[in-house]
Amino acid sequence: TFPGGGHGGVIRPGRPQRGSLALDGSGPRSDGTIRPFPTPLAAHAPPRRPGVPMETSLVLVKPDGVQRGLVGRVLSRFEDKGLSIAGLKLLVAPKATLEKHYAVHRERPFYGSLLQFMGSGPVVAIAVRGVNAVSVVRTLLGPTNGQEAPGGTIRGDFGMSRSFNLVHASDSTDNAAMELGLWFPEGTCDYQHDVLRWVYDDEA
Ligand code: CMP
Repeated sequence: TFPGGGHGGVIRPGRPQRGSLALDGSGPRSDGTIRPFPTPLAAHAPPRRPGVPMETSLVLVKPDGVQRGLVGRVLSRFEDKGLSIAGLKLLVAPKATLEKHYAVHRERPFYGSLLQFMGSGPVVAIAVRGVNAVSVVRTLLGPTNGQEAPGGTIRGDFGMSRSFNLVHASDSTDNAAMELGLWFPEGTCDYQHDVLRWVYDDEA
């Protein structure tokens, strides 16, 4: 069978196939059987190499991004890239979650205002999955300061501020694991994302 082909499997030459159409336009043979149709397009998609390691990154659309109506466009950046959404929720972050999330910045002068800002409205937490997702997502976000971020990045296209910088993403796989545990304690969603065989070739 061919996954996702939609025609239900292999056509055996010479065997009557009711309800199937010959896509080569040749129609049924005179003996009532139909010709095996050419390989459907879907069968040309390369197989996904099993075992290619996937990473999952934790992304937050910050309160400024939510208030500015950028959630859909931020999500689209990841989907357009070929990454998978593995978790998605809107919430006003509890203070304890923000304290753990930003523990590394505890001694920084902006820590207090950062926590206040991040708790000032709902955020959208997204688990983003793909090969090398942690670094790929950071590249899509761009540098911290929107004024310095190049066009084509999320911050470069939508932001003008260092503190109101719209989005957060994990900066390492270790931090991703910690942050995913914090924002998605129930776990993320594991599913077969059928389009991936069109996103990656055999070498990933
Ligand atoms: P992010 O990379 O998600 O995590 C740390 C956040 O702190 C950063 O985004 C900015 O929003 C914020 N931040 C970093 N540096 C400064 C700064 N110098 N002043 C104010 N906020 C900052």
